[in-house]
Amino acid sequence: MTDHSSHTGAQAQTLVTHVGRDAKLSQGLVSIPPYRGSTVLFDTVEQMKGASGHRAYGRWGTPTNRALERALAELEGGANAMLTPSGLSAITIALLASVKPGDHILVSDSVYPPTRTFCDTVLKQMGVATTYYDPLVGAGIKDLLQPNTSVVYTESPGSGTFEVQDIPAICAAAHAAGARFLMDNTWGTALCFNALRHGVDLSIHSLTKYVVGHSDALLGAIVVRDREVYRQVRGFHGAMGITVGPDDAFLGLRGLRTLAVRLRQHQENALAVAQWLREQPLVREVLYPALPGAPGHELWKRDFEGASGLFGVILKDASDGAVAAMLDGMRWFGMGFSWGGFESLVIPVKPGGYRMSSPLRHGEACLRIHVGLEHPQDLIADLRDGLQRLQAYRD
Ligand SMILES: Cc1ncc(COP(=O)(O)O)c(C=O)c1O
Repeated sequence: MTDHSSHTGAQAQTLVTHVGRDAKLSQGLVSIPPYRGSTVLFDTVEQMKGASGHRAYGRWGTPTNRALERALAELEGGANAMLTPSGLSAITIALLASVKPGDHILVSDSVYPPTRTFCDTVLKQMGVATTYYDPLVGAGIKDLLQPNTSVVYTESPGSGTFEVQDIPAICAAAHAAGARFLMDNTWGTALCFNALRHGVDLSIHSLTKYVVGHSDALLGAIVVRDREVYRQVRGFHGAMGITVGPDDAFLGLRGLRTLAVRLRQHQENALAVAQWLREQPLVREVLYPALPGAPGHELWKRDFEGASGLFGVILKDASDGAVAAMLDGMRWFGMGFSWGGFESLVIPVKPGGYRMSSPLRHGEACLRIHVGLEHPQDLIADLRDGLQRLQAYRD
């Protein structure tokens, strides 16, 4: 491990420009290049027997991969981190490494739908039972914990429904019951929400979103707070043959360097767009925790240090035809899955369809908007035209 002590006390914006850099590894270059390779050669049998990790075989990652892993661990203050080929594989590996047949897990009812699919199929087949809990349960989660609950899993704010959860309260209850606490921290990133400092054991990221930041690679990571837990999860990750190509790790590192300034701009733009949307007669509610007065704002203010650019919008007329009338013909907003890139996106959503244990207290978002780095006035003009199309459809 790198000596992280030299960075202690630095601001996040400074950290992202420096973490994971090692002049020796990059041969003096500012940025470590993508090291490609599978086979590592040894001079002696003794050397071969003593080799481990990326110094033994490329499947354990190249120096480029290790640089990104170290950077992510340092940013969140974790013992260590591991890369995975996508955000979803980070979720599945973190869960699989933390359960055994006969276990019970608690999963927030607001999680990314493929997480739910994984629990309902693979984990179920393995004999692991899942209970979905109300994301606003807070300390009340203690009543749902069973003697065999090995994991409490959360995503906050939920990327479809945007409830902000009381992470310290849920975490304290999970730990008191001996359960591991896992969090999909993709919305907050290490910069807006330091999950590990809030007690999370495994902080899970789809780096595909803000860290890569340019919609040109898929990548995930698991950052682990405790060294022993890291060893166990990393052993599982290795046993499953999970590996990531150096070019993708390189894109993750490149994206990381500008993460702080991009996020700040995403938040500023998203606030301007969300504020404007809230005042429109066709809009019932904007689900953006960073917006004063929006659902979850108080908890967000208590626990988060910033916000990303993803939020939900509840329209007054959410019929399929009305939503399509609005979204067909957008000028700057693209329509596509994922988020976190430099560009603005909007898609129709119906997150209530898979909710199991709890009502959508704020109503059901019908649009999911990712506000990119364009000028907010252009984005607002685009949305104004879209709402006019929606109005014309209704008339
Ligand atoms: C909250 C959240 N977590 C995880 C993922 C999965 O990430 P990936 O697309 O990198 O597999 C997504 C993807 O949209 C997501 O929104």
